Amino acid sequence: MKLFRSLQHLIPFVLIALAFSCSPKTEEPVVGLIAEKAMVVSAHPLASEVGSTILKNGGNAVDAAIAVHFALAVVYPEAGNIGGGGFFVIRDKDANYHSLDFRERGPLKSHQDMYLDETGEVIERKSTKGHLASGVPGAVDGMVKAYDKLGSLPWEDLLQPAIDLAEKGFVLSPDEAAKFNRAVENFQTYSSIDPVQFTGKAWEAGDTLIQNQLAETLKRIRDDKREGFYGGATADFIVAEMERGGGIISLEDLESYESTWREPLIGNYKDYKIITMGPPSSGGLIILQMLGTMEDYAVSNKKESYADYIHLKTEMERRVYADRAAYMADTDYYPVPVADLLNKDYLKERFLTFDPEKATASASIKEGKLLSMSEETTHFSVVDEMGNAVSCTTTLNGGMGSSVVVDGAGFILNNEMDDFSIKPGHPNMFGVLGGEANKIEPGKRMLSSMTPTIIEKDGELFMVVGTPGGSTIPTSVFQVIVNVIEFGMGMQEAVNQKRFHSQWQPEVISYEKGAMDESLESALTAKGHVFAERGGIGRVDAILKLPDGRLEGGADPRGMDTAVGF
Ligand code: DON
Repeated sequence: MKLFRSLQHLIPFVLIALAFSCSPKTEEPVVGLIAEKAMVVSAHPLASEVGSTILKNGGNAVDAAIAVHFALAVVYPEAGNIGGGGFFVIRDKDANYHSLDFRERGPLKSHQDMYLDETGEVIERKSTKGHLASGVPGAVDGMVKAYDKLGSLPWEDLLQPAIDLAEKGFVLSPDEAAKFNRAVENFQTYSSIDPVQFTGKAWEAGDTLIQNQLAETLKRIRDDKREGFYGGATADFIVAEMERGGGIISLEDLESYESTWREPLIGNYKDYKIITMGPPSSGGLIILQMLGTMEDYAVSNKKESYADYIHLKTEMERRVYADRAAYMADTDYYPVPVADLLNKDYLKERFLTFDPEKATASASIKEGKLLSMSEETTHFSVVDEMGNAVSCTTTLNGGMGSSVVVDGAGFILNNEMDDFSIKPGHPNMFGVLGGEANKIEPGKRMLSSMTPTIIEKDGELFMVVGTPGGSTIPTSVFQVIVNVIEFGMGMQEAVNQKRFHSQWQPEVISYEKGAMDESLESALTAKGHVFAERGGIGRVDAILKLPDGRLEGGADPRGMDTAVGF
């Protein structure tokens, strides 16, 4: 690890900070970056730049998405990844739809009780930190699969920007320096070797982060594609890391991992077509259940009606998250009743108990504890000149994943195993409950909430949207869609709005600071709701196609998220 400190390195950060401090307050209508032809919106300005350059060089949206995904693994290592997994939802220029599942899988040696002690109690942190917390990574196979079907530029060109960023380094902002310093203790506890990639000295703003081991791993992926990660030196490093730290991911797990093209989940809301991710994510089902229910109700964001909207939304959330716990899982292992869950009569039946004046009590199975959210997932949206669109959400799961850095290969492994139901009725780190459907099984994918989504209107591309946020992901995506379609907002304005979230259990409406005012609070209290303020909910990165064909970016001001286009 080399550290360079000089004032010169601070200049790009100061410029970014100035740009953010000049951005308008969230209440005021705002317009995001407008581009004539093509755009990338991601969590990091350097990754958005990488994607935009690929698009300028004639690459298509899939090329750009792959390059952005690898770049985020370098400049946004808490969520951008090669040691995790995610989902692509793609609408190509000819309006063909594709969804790629590169979710992690349970290792072959995993089993239902692996996080329980001999009395059947959950062992604290075992599913969230350390070597046993990781599922078999899917990201690299996902990038290769997407490229082989839809990529156009040479593969090497998509890896090189990430290799350069890892090898030459990039300058840390104060927030980034603080973020890495906060992570040091966990890396020291859970990495079985001295995790040189991220520890050593306290980071300061203006330092340059160079990741040589990661650069070498990326070069192997550049030169050998899938084999550069699931075979050869990288696989050996992963297996050695597992052996050192008591993990169970084997060479057989790596060799047999395959990402999977799945039928995208498609539904309609009024005259919009919603193309989103089906199981093993619950996200698409959740937003389609909510939109399908809401179709029968008029909603407005006028002050006098806003409490009614939040009440309606909360009541829908209670019901769909109860369904999530019971019915949603990896369809390769569990017969998820997708059509039944989206059946209009079912949704109506489920909402018969809805009282516009009173909150319905959530059935008390077990109180889930909604923890304050980390941002260790990331979403990016890409639209190219030809009209191809990619919506990608990718993750390590929570706080720097398992906090295990693979020695020799220089990347962080996920802690996605916690997304399985590790014991029936035991909430995961996002407070969501699960049961039989989502129990741990070798080779199975753990249930996700990630909701990469593309919307069409009248057969034309309309919006590309998604976000991190654990269990709040589907409800943030839902709110942004409603802000645009029902409340008439532009993309940036819709993204900036304060968000609310609830999920059946715990029985509470959580909201971002500034979302609640006195009149809203008293109207919702009168209906029987209780509240909790929490930190930022989600980081939505989205693109809206305007009626004149131009693109408006919505880059979430809650992070360093940046739209770049031309
Ligand atoms: O797949 C999921 O739903 C979770 N692993 C996502 C985690 C997440 O969004 C964390 N960051 N906010």
